[in-house]
Amino acid sequence: METQELITPMPRIGDSAPAFKAITTQGEINFPFDYSGKWVILFSHPADFTPVCTSEFMTFAKREPEFTALGCQLVGLSIDGLYSHIAWLRTIKEKIEFKGMKNMEVKFPLIEDITMEVAKKYGMIQPGESSTKAVRAVFFIDPKGIIRAIIYYPLSLGRNFDELKRALIAMQTADKYSIATPADWQPGEDVILPTAGSCGVAKDRMDDKEEGVTCYDWFFCTKPLPIEKINNPKHVV
Ligand code: BEZ
Repeated sequence: METQELITPMPRIGDSAPAFKAITTQGEINFPFDYSGKWVILFSHPADFTPVCTSEFMTFAKREPEFTALGCQLVGLSIDGLYSHIAWLRTIKEKIEFKGMKNMEVKFPLIEDITMEVAKKYGMIQPGESSTKAVRAVFFIDPKGIIRAIIYYPLSLGRNFDELKRALIAMQTADKYSIATPADWQPGEDVILPTAGSCGVAKDRMDDKEEGVTCYDWFFCTKPLPIEKINNPKHVV
């Protein structure tokens, strides 16, 4: 296939998640409508029966309950067919033991995408890396079907699941409390207030008039947000 044919405009943060119908290991899905009201992590992997992907799927399977507890559905995809997916997931469950994980059952849907229709729609084919395999893309889609964050990794790099979870909790927390989160934020740490939008608020903040608020300068103020106020702190890592 010509490189040009593989390149389609990529969906961006703030766009509606492109819609599609697909066959998966858990039956047919109508995306994103089947998941409206939930967060979704839609992720691609390069190929079934490959080692990095196997380590990732075992980890996704192990940690799925943590994402479910955060109201988030996992949906995977690769440019392989349904029977390859089924055979691979059976092999993972029956034969593979890795880092203390064994008998891991993947219960979330894995999309078959041999036509590359979905992978192309989501810009998961990056011909400079591979024309025949999807890169490791991660789309965070909110309960209204809006893409809120996108992370891409190359074929050789397995994803960091603590970071995927941290990003999800941070976005949910930002939505709930109208705050932002600083570099390396972890649940329970101070959060950032919206920047002062008027000279009066800037002055009040610098004059220490807002209880519990710490300002490093008028545009950079933080406040505590106790871990009890955060969605499901139990599984926080
Ligand atoms: C892997 O999952 O191990 C893999 C897949 C495609 C290319 C390189 C590595």
